[in-house]
Amino acid sequence: MSYFEIIGGRKLNGEIEVKGAKNAALKAVASALLSREKWTITNLPQIEDISRILEMVEDLGAEAKRSKNKVEIQAKNIKKSRLSERLAGKLRASIILAGPVLARTGKVSMPYPGGCVIGKRPIDLFLAGFQKMGAKVKWQDDHFSLSAKKLKGAKIFFPKITVTGTEAMMITAVVAEGETILENAAMEPEIPALAEFLNRSGSKISGAGTPTIRIKGVKKIGGGRMKIIPDRIETGTFVILAALCGGKIKIKNCNPDHIRAFLANIQKAGVRIEEENNELVVWGAEKINPVNVSTHEYPGFATDLQPPFTLLMTRARGTSQIHDPIFEGRLLFTDILNSMGANIVLNDPHRATVQGPTKLRGRKIASPDLRAGITLLLSGLIAKGKTTVENIYQIDRGYERIEERLQKLGADIKRIEK
Ligand code: EPU
Repeated sequence: MSYFEIIGGRKLNGEIEVKGAKNAALKAVASALLSREKWTITNLPQIEDISRILEMVEDLGAEAKRSKNKVEIQAKNIKKSRLSERLAGKLRASIILAGPVLARTGKVSMPYPGGCVIGKRPIDLFLAGFQKMGAKVKWQDDHFSLSAKKLKGAKIFFPKITVTGTEAMMITAVVAEGETILENAAMEPEIPALAEFLNRSGSKISGAGTPTIRIKGVKKIGGGRMKIIPDRIETGTFVILAALCGGKIKIKNCNPDHIRAFLANIQKAGVRIEEENNELVVWGAEKINPVNVSTHEYPGFATDLQPPFTLLMTRARGTSQIHDPIFEGRLLFTDILNSMGANIVLNDPHRATVQGPTKLRGRKIASPDLRAGITLLLSGLIAKGKTTVENIYQIDRGYERIEERLQKLGADIKRIEK
């Protein structure tokens, strides 16, 4: 298994480009299965999660021609209605394939989806939504199957806001008979981006990006082109990188409008930041103020940016409170930061108190999940001495060739292949 070896303490300077959003690209690839025609997706990040979902659509019978940051997908026929066990177990987002396969073949079966170990991550809201659209749900051990001769439009109220749940229902409803209304829908930027794309391919979706989405089912989805929006989580992570390790870093190809709540808190922390169109320039912060944050669904502070923000707070002069109500496992990685010298008390699974400033010491650590993983990598960049980060598949799942991009800024980081 490969690992990263990092020598901390280097000042970083220069430019770094944000790649396409993982969580938009996964849903775009899945949606391509709705059509028999060709879909071209550009600005596709070259990351492990995308390789996995492309393997899954190929396994189902679609053709996927990939070249660097582009893929052409054509699903003339769907050969199977059972998703690959091995792949679905690695990727929670594999559940997004359920709707298109169900719509095309009348049935679909898959294991309980895997992915980041950040909490229980139930799928009850998906199953309830599919049932409302006329699907029968069957469970056998840890597998479930859905079947429906015909999918019909439905009024679906989400008792809890769910990003992939909203997207899954939206994608399925575009080919269901009649109108679907999704209420208390998620509003993350990936959702209107997907709706815009689907509409260009013949769908009739309105209201995406608001809590009420209306979808009029159509008989046929055509081909299309989609450019993936910039990854807002990568953008925010690079802001923290610059605050901790700059120098001066220019973050290119980003959309600051997608991380307003995060940027407001970064400014409260005293980080100097300048914005111009789709670029952010961030300076290393000498003095960081403590800031209390609570994560929230969009447009609030993204839970995926909580781990790097918590790391930033270990450098703040004073106490900060971090509240992450969305997933119950998202703060567990703070134990690893403590083993490096941080002073973080976990008050309960959703709340942590960070006492700063503390200095971190390098050591051997392992990445528990994607967002904690990149945070541990950043902690290695500021720690004294050598840090070894293992289990880096978790980081490669969401960040394209991260060590090469950091090396260009002056970081001392190597990928060691074992
Ligand atoms: N939930 C349920 N039942 C369901 C679905 C969700 O109770 O059927 C709960 C979850 O357990 C959680 C809350 O609802 O407590 C919100 O979860 P949501 O469904 O919104 O999360 P998700 O769609 O599985 C996406 C991103 C995550 C990101 C969250 C929150 C993708 C592929 N993943 O997950 O990204 O943290 O939204 O914004 O889009 C990541 O990229 O590292 C990542 C984990």
